[in-house]
Formats: sequence, structure tokens, C-alpha cells
Amino acid sequence: MCGIVGYIGFREAWPLVIKGLKRLEYRGYDSAGIALIGDSGLNIYKKAGKVSELENFSVGKNLSGTIGIGHTRWATHGAPSDRNSHPHTSNSGTLSIIHNGIIENYATLKEELLKRGHFFNSDTDTEVLIHLIEEIYKNDDVDLLEAVRLALNEVTGAYAIVVMDQNQPDQLIAARKGSPMVIGVGEDEYFIASDATPIVEYTKNVIYLNDNEIAFVKRDELLIKRLDNVVQTPYIQELEIQLELLEKGGFDHFMLKEIYEQPRSIRDCMRGRIYPNEGFVQLGGIKEYAEKLKNIDRIIIVACGTSWHAGLVGEYLIEEYARIPVEVEYASEFRYRNPIITEKDVVIAISQSGETADTMAAIEMAKEKGATIFGVCNVVGSSIPRLTHAGVYTHAGPEIGVASTKAFTAQVTVLTLIAFYMAQQKGTITKAKMVELLTELDLIPEKIQRALESNDLIKEIAAKFKDSRNCLFLGRGSGFPVALEGALKLKEISYIHAEGYPAAEMKHGPIALIDEEMPVVVIATKNSSYEKVISNIQEVKARKGIVLAIVTEGDTEVKKMADYVIEIPDASEAFLPLLATIPLQLLSYHIAVLRDCNVDQPRNLAKSVTVE
Ligand code: F6R
Repeated sequence: MCGIVGYIGFREAWPLVIKGLKRLEYRGYDSAGIALIGDSGLNIYKKAGKVSELENFSVGKNLSGTIGIGHTRWATHGAPSDRNSHPHTSNSGTLSIIHNGIIENYATLKEELLKRGHFFNSDTDTEVLIHLIEEIYKNDDVDLLEAVRLALNEVTGAYAIVVMDQNQPDQLIAARKGSPMVIGVGEDEYFIASDATPIVEYTKNVIYLNDNEIAFVKRDELLIKRLDNVVQTPYIQELEIQLELLEKGGFDHFMLKEIYEQPRSIRDCMRGRIYPNEGFVQLGGIKEYAEKLKNIDRIIIVACGTSWHAGLVGEYLIEEYARIPVEVEYASEFRYRNPIITEKDVVIAISQSGETADTMAAIEMAKEKGATIFGVCNVVGSSIPRLTHAGVYTHAGPEIGVASTKAFTAQVTVLTLIAFYMAQQKGTITKAKMVELLTELDLIPEKIQRALESNDLIKEIAAKFKDSRNCLFLGRGSGFPVALEGALKLKEISYIHAEGYPAAEMKHGPIALIDEEMPVVVIATKNSSYEKVISNIQEVKARKGIVLAIVTEGDTEVKKMADYVIEIPDASEAFLPLLATIPLQLLSYHIAVLRDCNVDQPRNLAKSVTVE
């Protein structure tokens, strides 16, 4: 959470940092600020609210300077306000800092600094850190790089920071531990950001800073050290991000654009990995472990939120095809239990951002206990792929809407491939079955395209549901995680209370909620539980609930009972989640738009949850 941008070079920093912060707003958007050093010295502008409010507030002010740092915040310590916005300054006001993460021992450090006469202007942990840096800088007779290094050795917690000194406008100091940071390498200029999106239009050459590394950045010089003072050789990588994926491309919202991108993103995700004619799956990222997969006892999937829902689909598929027992765990619960993990376990960590703090902690714990860890991540070069032993990228491209859409279907696609790959290694699937499944999987992007054609109908249905206060989503089998995901999408972007439930569980409690005002969305496609779901619909109708059913094209049975139906193309049960999710994404989207909600940046949320 929180996005940070730094620049040092020959360009005007303000427009570049503002644009970068807008790209990073998915990480937090409750307040923003920028510090610049220009001819008139240090200027800091901060404002509660979105980056655009900071932009409006700064019109007509002195925005010159070719060195600057900026921050978009998701509040942890201290409410969103002008005074708690970053950058924060040191006691003397000459040092400024931006920070993503949490300084856990800030209270003890603050107490000590207060005793030494420091005066604080905010409620943040970040301000304590910059005061500590200045204290060391002044008292220990060291340069700023060393002062930052020594200070960071005293703090516990997570951080990605950039420090700027008003008296040394030719340098920035950056460091990271547990929060992401990328350095873009230009000609006589460097860019620093939480991810590569603010950098990509200026340079394709980037360095992903590792945990416990500190960078000394001048216009024409870069030095990277570890916190234990050992100098590192920077590893420059080339970025593959396409600039157009970072723009809305004619759509009203990123979320809608990303929903419509799914035929392409799923195709990208499968490219070079499936061979339908040969009935063969190739996953280069985990092939080193192909032998091991024949003898594993169990798979544990760890993830949060939408990624956890993808994990539930993965459980269904891996157990069905590879016949390996699977447990799906919320990373945040798993890490605080004392779970039994052995060297014969494979842990699959799923994360769009690759930065989720709870998922990272779960990985570290499982790794210590000897498990093999695979990552299923979207953001290339993020922290989780670097923590895991092996993995499979989802290649969905940058997902900017805070509500996850194309990343979810790409995760499900990768898990489908992993299930088939494991089945292939273990010999639990015949060649003929594999040819059949892969041939069908290859057609899924076209079927998603067809499912998207219901958009206008869904918009009409959304108008009927937009004033609902509650909504129930029901599904069975692999339709259950789809129901959970449908409910999460609705609640997070439209603020309507929604619950996903296994359809058969409804009668054990939630049925009490049903009345003539309660919309119930039912995944009622033609698969093994079709008849049972029909009975569940009857139960809802008998209590006057309003039923919106997601049905297979050409269905006649459910149409007789449901109040509204949305058709999706026919598919085997294995691929149902990929198709049934599409109308639910569109439904939430249209309801949220009709309710005038901020679809791409829902309240209180951030896309990359780097705090526990
Ligand atoms: C919901 C959503 C969140 C994320 C969750 C995990 O739309 O986006 O629930 O799925 O915060 O994030 P990642 O996948 O980045 O680990």
C-alpha cells in the first residue's frame, strides 16, 4: 500500500512525479504529496484526497526542480489528512522522506526522540524515521547514506523509502525491506517507484531493489549496498510492459477495460503452454520440479481475497484431475497457526500483485519448514516470485482497477494448467482426455468474448438491482468460488452487502434472509449439480426471493423459474468458473456505476496490501 515516486535528472520533476503517482494510485488514494528542490530551495505540497486534488491545489505555485519525491497514501498510522500526508520532514526541515510500509518500533523510537527535544508535526511512523535519520546524521558525523543505513538498522518493520536532502540537491537515498521498489536507469537520470508503471515511458532498463538494500542515486551515478554495508552489483533488467495497457483506451473505467481484456489475457496466459493436438501442457517455470510432483503428499494453496477464490477453483481442479489432496488457506490465518508442513508438501502462493504481506509471510513460514513453494503471480519482478522456488506467471498484464477481474481469470487459467500438468506427470489422466480438455480450453477465450456480448442485458438487470441493500450469491462445486467472487466484487465496488454461499448450505441459515426484496444470484449452468441447483432456486422462489440465474445458452428449465437469466456458452465443468465469472463482473460494474461509486478506486481499499 502507498505508492512512491522519486526522480533525479534533467527533466522537470513535478509533471513526471504527478503522472507517476496517478499510475500508482491503485496502491492508495487517501492523500498525496510531493517535495521538490528547485532554485528557491525545498517546496513541499501535500493534500488529503486524490492526486488530482494535490494537482489542483498546486496550480500557480512554484513547481520547478529537477529532483523530487512524491507519495500517494493508504493510511496506517494517522488518519488521512494534510498533516499526515507524505513527504515528511526532519526536525530541522532540511531532510524529507516518502515511505511505503510500517515502522513497527516507531513508538519506542519516538519516545527517545521526544526526550531529545524533537517536535513532531504528524501522527505517522514515517516522520519518526526521518527524525531518527537526522539525529544520526548530525551526531555521528557521517554522510547521509550512512545515516540512513544506520537508522534502518535500528528499525523493525517494512519499508520502501526515498530520502532527499535540501542541502544536497544532487542525490536521493532509497532503501527497501518488505515493500517493493524499482529503479529506472536513464541517461543522466534515475527514476524510483513502487512498481515500473511510472517509469516505463522513460526507460525500459530497471533494477528491482532487493530487501535490505540501500541505493545512493545521483544523476550520473548509482551505488547499491546492503544494510550490512556490502556493496552490490546492480542487475539491470528490461521491462516488458506495454504502455497502452496503462491507459483506459476509450473505456470509462479501467475495470471495464480489464473485463473486456479477458479473451486476450487468457490467451496470453496459455500461449506456449498448451498443445491441444498433442494433449500436452508445458510449464517452464516449474519443470525443474516435474519429478518431485509425482511423489508429493499434499498441496497447500495460500492467498488472500480474490486470489483465495482462485485457489478454491484450483483445489477443485487439482483434486479432480491430479488426485492430490489440496488445502486452501487464507494466508493471514495460516501464518499465525502452527500448521503441519513437511518437505513433501508443495505450497502454491497466489497473488496478483506479488506483494501481499500476509501471503509473503505464509511463504516464509512454509519455506522454513522445508516445503517447496510455487508462486502464481501477475506482476513480473514483484517480491513473491523472488521468494518462491519456482512459479508460473499469469501474464494478464497490468491490472489497474482495484477490483481484480482479469487477474482472477488468469489465475484460474494457470491453476487449470497446473492441475493438468500435475495430472500429466502423475499419469492420472489419459492422453485422449487431455486432448479433449485442452482443445476445449483453447476455445475459452472465444467463449468469454461471447459471454461479454450480454453486457447490455446485464446493464438493464443492474438497474433493477442497484438499490438493493443485500444480495446472496449461490453456487455448487466450482460454481461456489464463483459465487464468492461475485459477492466480493459487488460489495467492494458498490458497497452493497453481499454474501457468497454454497447453494446447499443456504437452508442452514441464510435462507432466513430471503424475502421479496432479496436478490439471489444463482450459478445454474448445465453441469453435474444442475438438478440440485434447480431445487435450490425453487426454495428461494418459495420464499419470494428475486432470482437472477447464470445459465447455459439454450436453457429452458431455469428460465421458467428465475426472474432474470443471463446466458453463458456451454462448457465442461472444469471451465465453468472462467465463463460464469464474466457476467458477475459486469453486473457489479454496472451496479456500482449506477450507484455513482468510484469503480476503479473503491473507498478504504488499495490494490497492493503490503501491511498485515
Ligand atoms: C478483490 C481484490 C483483493 C485481492 C487481495 C489479494 O478484488 O483485488 O481481494 O485479491 O488483496 O491481493 P493479491 O492477489 O495481490 O495478493
